[in-house]
This record gives sequence, C-alpha cells and structure tokens, in this order.
Amino acid sequence: MAKNREVVDKFGKRHTFSEGMEGVVATSSEICFINGAEGRLFYRGIPIEDLAENSTFEETSYFLLYGELPTQKELHDFDTRLKKYRAIPDPVLEILKQMPRKANTMQILRTVVSLMGLYEEKSDEHSVSETSREAEKLIAVFPTIVAAIQRLREGKEPISPDKSLGHAANLIYMVNGEKPDAYAARVLDVCLILHAEHGFNASTFTSRVVISTLTDVHSAITAAIGSLRGPLHGGANEGVMHLLNEIGSLEAVDEVIRLKLKTKAKIMGFGHRVYKVLDPRAKILSQYSERLAEITGKQKYYAMSKKIEEIMENEVGDRGIYPNVDFFSASVYHYLGFNLEIYTPIFAVSRISGWAAHVMEQLRENRLFRPSSVYLGDIDRTYPKISDR
Ligand code: SDX
Repeated sequence: MAKNREVVDKFGKRHTFSEGMEGVVATSSEICFINGAEGRLFYRGIPIEDLAENSTFEETSYFLLYGELPTQKELHDFDTRLKKYRAIPDPVLEILKQMPRKANTMQILRTVVSLMGLYEEKSDEHSVSETSREAEKLIAVFPTIVAAIQRLREGKEPISPDKSLGHAANLIYMVNGEKPDAYAARVLDVCLILHAEHGFNASTFTSRVVISTLTDVHSAITAAIGSLRGPLHGGANEGVMHLLNEIGSLEAVDEVIRLKLKTKAKIMGFGHRVYKVLDPRAKILSQYSERLAEITGKQKYYAMSKKIEEIMENEVGDRGIYPNVDFFSASVYHYLGFNLEIYTPIFAVSRISGWAAHVMEQLRENRLFRPSSVYLGDIDRTYPKISDR
C-alpha cells in the first residue's frame, strides 16, 4: 500500500502525494517488467529465470541495450568491442593510483567514471551511435576499474584485462590474479545477469532524470553510481555481510535478529518497494549460495542466511518483507572470495548495462523530468537587515 500523505498548504489547498513516489508512473519503458505481487521479473519480456539459466552477461547486456537478442555474429562483434574497450585510459589510471586507498570504493568508482568523461571524444549531440558506443565502453571498463580499486586497496598493482576470458571470469582474474574455474566464473556471470536491470529503481531513475537535461552520459552514470551506493539500495549487500559478521555464528542468529526487530532496526537485504513476496533473484541466488557452501565445505554463511530468512518469514512475512536481491548475493560473493568492500561495486559492474539501456531509451523520446512539490514554508516574510537579526 502506497504511503499517501495529505497536507494543507499556506493557501488552504489540500494535497495528497505518495511519499517516495511509490506507485507514481514517471514515464513509459519497454525494458523491464516486474510483477511484485507474484515475484516475477522480465527483461524485455523474457523471464529472469530463463536468462539466468541460458544467457551470459554479455548477451543480456546487448539485449537490454538494443532490444533484441543478438545473432551469433552480433554477439561476437559486441564481445569483440567490449574486449577492446576494457582498458582504463592511462591518465585516468595514474590519477586512480593517487586516490586515498581506504576511501569508500563506490566513491572511488564514481570519481573514476566522472574522470573518464573528460577523456571521451564526443560532440554535444546525442546521436544513437555515439551514445551506444559510450554505453559499450562503460560496460566494458567497469570490471577493470573495480578490480584496480581493490588491488590498490591491498597495496598491489592493478592487473590488465585478459582477452581470452569472458566478462565475469576476467573480473575475478583481475581481482585476485588467478583465472577462475568454470563454475566460479559461471556463478558470477549469473549474478551479473540478475543484477543488470530492475526498472525504475532509485539509481536508474537518477540516470534518467540526469540525462533528461541532455547532459553527457558520464554525468548520468556518475550520478547513478552515487545513488546505488546508499544502504537502502545497492549498498545493502555490504550491509548484509556486516550483519552476518556481527552475528558471528548460527547459534547467535535468533537472538540478534529478534532484538533488531524489537528495536525496529532494518534488517539489510530484506524488504522491497515493489516485491511483496520473495524476490525471484533472491531465490536463484539462494540456490547458488547453497551449492557454493557445499563445494567449499563452509556452511556457515549460507546456514546463517537461511536461518535469518526463516525467522524473518515467521516474524514479518505477513507484512510482505522477504529477502531481496542483496540478501543472498552477499554470501555468494563471500564464497567467490570477494572482499566486502567491492560487493556494491560488483552490483554496479552489472547495473551499468541497465542504466545505459535506460539512458538510451530516455534519449529516444526525451522530455525533461521536472516534477513539483507542495510548498509548506512561509510566504511573504519581511527581509530583516543583518544588524537586526
Ligand atoms: C535494492 O527498487 C529496486 O528495484 C531496488 C533493487 C534493484 O535491483 O535496483 O531491487 C535493489 O535496492 C534492494 C533493496 C536493498 N535495501 C535493503 O535491503 C535495505 C533494507 N530494506 C529496506 O530499508 C526497505 O525494505 C526498502 C528501502 C528496500 C524499501 O523501503 P520502502 O518501500 O520505503 O518501505 P518502508 O521503509 O516504508 O518500510 C515499510 C515497513 C516499515 O514498517 P512500519 O514503519 O510501516 O511499521 O516495513 C518495515 C519498515 O520498518 N521494513 C522493514 C524492512 N524493510 C521494511 N523492517 C525490518 N527490516 C527491513 N529490511
């Protein structure tokens, strides 16, 4: 149920508005459909389960950007272009190396993407070919930036991309210097497919609002990264890992979660503006978390996650609060060996394709976003001289 608020303005006029714009239709789109009541998600009409089973991140990105699944040749050419665009421009890499090592990884990612805009040769017009080239370049370079941020954080040299590896496998390779086995690469590939797109979430809406001014693509994506960082949005996957670490053991789950619920604390990775049942992405990620726990022989994080899910279902399930995409992605990334500082950047590595698709769609039939608000402040105050204040 939308949280509608009624207010009376200074002129005595009554207004009703939906807090957080819940349920407000901002524009139309052909990219994503979410059925929140039944927990269904479709990218351009194809169920997320089919894409997770059969597609790759590269193919899904092409599909999101261009509206149709690629032919073999189109996919091959797209993949070749992505591999060509993977490297961070040298001057940007040099500046990245000077950034504070311990700064927040999303803030560094945001700054680097903003910087990259300075090295992009482009006209002021948003031609389709120019925008799609910029979109492909950003999708290609995000893993290289994120891996470099992580390596520098650890006091290590960044690793150059490896053209023999797919998008997901190359990210793992650039983070830890070892080529992953096929299963680990596939799990990350599925994670990237699952996080790629989700309609008018806060960061995507941000990118559309920014591009609607006809500013440059890098400005729109930079703003979107800033939006994704927040703990109510993509930042929640790091929050989940902090929660698991805070709880510490399977035995402690019950007490900690019940205490948090009693004190009205938010449990990270639960609840969603649109889903009132289990997020279909969480269902798939839960299965991967279970399998990785078996393979690694380390049950702890999966077992703790399942216990939290069980308690939450009993306590708040009737209020429509279930695991969202960020909940099981935390334990999956843990099993894949990623440090928690790059959990949210990995979300961005994936979501850049959704942001780019929305930027392209917005530009096709653009109208400036400019909503209004109800003014509840004072009217016609006198201006007192500074000496009289
Ligand atoms: C993502 O929009 C998207 O599509 C986003 C996303 C994507 O792919 O782009 O799916 C990715 O951002 C997932 C969400 C990640 N965030 C978290 O996991 C943070 C924890 N969850 C929440 O804070 C919350 O559920 C939101 C922000 C996700 C949704 O918030 P809403 O719709 O504004 O709901 P609300 O905060 O008004 O909560 C409604 C009620 C409240 O109780 P009452 O005040 O009515 O008594 O539900 C309770 C809340 O306290 N509640 C929770 C809860 N989430 C909601 N209580 C405990 N734990 C939670 N996680």
